[in-house]
Amino acid sequence: MTTLNQPEKGKLLIYGATGYTGTMICREAARRGLDFEIAGRSEEKLSELSRQLNVVYHVFSVDDKPGWEKSLRGKTCLLNVAGPFSETAEPAMEACITHHVHYVDITAEVNIYQLAESKDLAAQGAGVMILSGAGLFSTYDPLVVHTAKRVKNPVALRAAFQYSGGFTPGSIASSGNIIDAGILVRRNGSIEKLTDAKPSYFDFGNGAQECFPTPLGAVVLCYKSTGIPNIEEFFQMALPAATEKSDLETIQNDQTSEGRSRILAEITGADGSIVRSIAITPAGYMPTVTASVEVASRVLNGFFKSGFQSPASVFGEKLLESFEVEIIDL
Ligand SMILES: NC(=O)c1ccc[n+]([C@@H]2O[C@H](COP(=O)([O-])OP(=O)(O)OC[C@H]3O[C@@H](n4cnc5c(N)ncnc54)[C@H](OP(=O)(O)O)[C@@H]3O)[C@@H](O)[C@H]2O)c1
Repeated sequence: MTTLNQPEKGKLLIYGATGYTGTMICREAARRGLDFEIAGRSEEKLSELSRQLNVVYHVFSVDDKPGWEKSLRGKTCLLNVAGPFSETAEPAMEACITHHVHYVDITAEVNIYQLAESKDLAAQGAGVMILSGAGLFSTYDPLVVHTAKRVKNPVALRAAFQYSGGFTPGSIASSGNIIDAGILVRRNGSIEKLTDAKPSYFDFGNGAQECFPTPLGAVVLCYKSTGIPNIEEFFQMALPAATEKSDLETIQNDQTSEGRSRILAEITGADGSIVRSIAITPAGYMPTVTASVEVASRVLNGFFKSGFQSPASVFGEKLLESFEVEIIDL
């Protein structure tokens, strides 16, 4: 159950603050008036950002336990934005459990969601929440919960993400981990790795589009929020990938119909009925920035569930109301 057990606003630590996404998240946290400090491994970048935002900074590598102890003191929540998360999530989650601080990250790496799931009992014992995937899944997961409510007894989810935007070096490094995970699906409640998965077609509103089987993480996160026993996921790039920041910024500001990302959730009920809902969001990384700061803000205000959680398992479908997102029920 979601509990409000802190009358005062808590304090946030943002680790990986000086990356492309981390910097945008810090600016959004400052704009919203969150009480936060920043951390990472690069002194020069941190001191500059700390000067710009007038916040305290901590320099330590992710495996530096005394560094975590000192920087997490007095904090309510860690927002880990340092990726690839295969390098940072485990020590950061462990530090949070040890020091009784809630953990939130923005990873897109499915094996990190499984790692978070494996910390469930330890996190419950420490009375903290481990919420991995507060980026894309802050929209994706509540969309699935919303769509699942439109059928009686949902038994299967097929979801497709049409991404409009570029990728930073951190995301490119992370995408290697996503590909290495293989094509994961959930069948009759268990995760299976497919050796032979075929593309499928989804209509995001402008005709059927070919999408490729990709383990985005619903097999872990949407299973947590809905318990739907059969889950498959697909991905399509709407615009060519860009690696330069200027390209990313251009794409971020492209709010035409083409410059939007879309998530389609298709749910089958036990009676064979099929419903589809689409979420349309701004392009690029801005939805992750808005979402992760919103989630962190809620945690600072005492809204959490102990143990492993997904965005919708703790905040439900209503989380969508906090974002710039259009939902279309087909
Ligand atoms: N799911 C989503 O919706 C979503 C959206 C955006 C981003 N992301 C993910 O967020 C992560 C960061 O993205 P980004 O755009 O900020 O990438 P970026 O610009 O390349 O920045 C990566 C950041 O992580 C830090 N970092 C990387 N490895 C580290 C390590 N071993 N120890 C400590 N710090 C480390 C970097 O520190 P230095 O500056 O010192 O190198 C930098 O601050 C990526 O994994 C990306 O996939 C997810």
